Amino acid sequence: MHYGADYNPEQWPEEVWPDDVARMREAGVTMVSLGIFAWSRLQPSEGEFDFGWLDRVIDLLHEGGIAVDLATATASPPPWASAAYPELLPVDADGATYWPGSRQAYAPSSPVYRRLAGELVAALADRYASHPAVVMWHVNNEYGCHLHADYSDAARDAFRRWLADRYGDVDALNRAWATNFWSQRYGSFDEVFPPRKAPYSHNPGQALDFHRFTSDMLLECYLMERDILLAHGATQPITTNFMGAFKPADYAKWAPHVDLVSDDCYPDPNDPESFRAAAFQRDLVRSLKPEVPWILMEQATGALNWRPSNAPKAPGQMAALSAQAIGRGADGILFFQWRQSKGGAEKFHSAMLPHAGTDSRTWREVVDLGAKLAALPELPWPEAGAGPGATGVPATAAPATGAPPTVAPATDARVALVFDWENWWAVEASDHPLNRLDHVALVQRWYRALHRRHVQVDLVRPEQVDSRYALAIAPTLYLLRETGAAALTAFVEGGGHLLAGPFTDVVDEHDRFRDGGFLTQLGGLLGVRLEDFGALVPADAPASEPGEREARFADAHAAADAPTADAPGLAPFGEQVGTLLAEELHAIDATVEAVFTSGRRAGGPALTLREAGRGTARYLATVPDEAGTQAVVDRLLATTGVEPVVAGLPPHVEVARRGALRTFVNHGGPAVDVRVTGRDAASGDAVDGLRLGPWDWALVLDA
Ligand code: GLA
Repeated sequence: MHYGADYNPEQWPEEVWPDDVARMREAGVTMVSLGIFAWSRLQPSEGEFDFGWLDRVIDLLHEGGIAVDLATATASPPPWASAAYPELLPVDADGATYWPGSRQAYAPSSPVYRRLAGELVAALADRYASHPAVVMWHVNNEYGCHLHADYSDAARDAFRRWLADRYGDVDALNRAWATNFWSQRYGSFDEVFPPRKAPYSHNPGQALDFHRFTSDMLLECYLMERDILLAHGATQPITTNFMGAFKPADYAKWAPHVDLVSDDCYPDPNDPESFRAAAFQRDLVRSLKPEVPWILMEQATGALNWRPSNAPKAPGQMAALSAQAIGRGADGILFFQWRQSKGGAEKFHSAMLPHAGTDSRTWREVVDLGAKLAALPELPWPEAGAGPGATGVPATAAPATGAPPTVAPATDARVALVFDWENWWAVEASDHPLNRLDHVALVQRWYRALHRRHVQVDLVRPEQVDSRYALAIAPTLYLLRETGAAALTAFVEGGGHLLAGPFTDVVDEHDRFRDGGFLTQLGGLLGVRLEDFGALVPADAPASEPGEREARFADAHAAADAPTADAPGLAPFGEQVGTLLAEELHAIDATVEAVFTSGRRAGGPALTLREAGRGTARYLATVPDEAGTQAVVDRLLATTGVEPVVAGLPPHVEVARRGALRTFVNHGGPAVDVRVTGRDAASGDAVDGLRLGPWDWALVLDA
């Protein structure tokens, strides 16, 4: 279990470093991420490296028994680089340049940026690959953060090359992008641009490919650095820090190339429900690479600096969120950052060692958590997922195969919640029946409903849904690849239970309709035909926007559905609120479970069920609000045999299963008594029932 932080010694006089190391030891720090933004100190000018200070600080850490996750420092090119090569600066869609003076001002496809970054990485690897303190490599930092896309000339040239690679000849691109529309037909790849500022809507195929390209350019930067590290003798695991559901980077495509996933997560203490968003993020990153534990690379000890209001964490909340991460697969708890900065834009950002000093609640909590983590044994990882990295850091750098990850049943999850970056990009494109869908918010609503019921969930692409799961929920799976549709179909036929949400199976991978209407791939399985999407006005739209804002729906046979001896769990749900869409759906070969009870669609099917093969396929024709989502989830749980990890807990108490470990966290609500038996993971003492007060947590191994 690693414990530590980003460490930025370049911000401090050298005399401070011994105190840093002494304090780190006091806090139980085992590893620091070193030098993430130190490029200008490591390379004062082109061709000139200054490693003396880094040598000294690494040696000092090593003497103190503190391991180093060494950064490649390429996330913020120094001012000399852009002064000499202004073409490496990124540009927005309107043609405005992002100038130096902040951080991350580089165009990922810029050949000169890549050359300079590569030279620095090679020099670092040559010097430190065999240093015994270095146990991991931290490539760049939060790729794509701040700068979600680059439209520079470097991007233009790279986009043209990327398209030529993808399509081979320009006619294939013309077909994929349907360029006969609006006179967009291209005669050569050299006529194509990134979707820069334009008079009106961009071509949707172009916009979707630009998302793919943007993710791929960032990934190319990562792969370049990783390959240089390996070529220059690195044997340590290599990672780069992800940011959960971060739209610009398709981490599902990235995950095979990192030896372990590391993730940065900053739930908002002002939001009492943000622990559920944090749980979602942790399950997402665990699902990306389920064969090994992941590392929480950054979280805050207390307040941030970058939200409109930056509340401190409540006493105990930092440790509670750390326990949550461990329960959902983390084998490392690290922070941004070690010592609070004295100057710079982040001087108000909390740290392990706060500016207020060691006589502070933060410091006491940091020391306390360090001691608790140090007492833990190696934590279990499930059989099927157990790999070299049972401790979170594999012993050697795993070969990057590029193969898609197979989700092992890492946490006994029996529910697959479908989440796919390409679909995310496509579903949020413009010019849709409803142009205000927030896809992650909708997926998270389903996640919250499952989380409140203490059900363990994996977040997977449609292709990964298979017989390991009992239930799969696919909210708004607008872009559905043939491979994904085939997997979902096989899942149901083999005995799985599927719920497909509205606006699903609408387009192919180029964001074009398929012939034959909508639901062309899943319609038969679901037994329905979709005629129209029935957009509603979002509830939060200004009053001046007229129209229906909701479409209520209720059990089609509420009375008949009352629990009986034959169907004991099938509790009817009362009238619920559907939002955003009230689709015009026809049940062809499906039972209507719920009907719309208000609005234009009143009387029409809202939820259908078809028994298919050995499983069932449901279709939901609206986006239920929070309560409605809970009602539908409760119906699904009652009919699919999915069990909670532990039954009977209130919603503010979380439980997660990780192999033989169950982690319980009270996220700040009233004290509860938990009926559980086992062994305390740290002490080994028998556990027979727990009392969890606000922010209390417990790691319990099976007896
Ligand atoms: C990101 C960055 C860090 C720091 C934190 C502040 O996660 O990686 O360098 O800026 O945000 O919260």
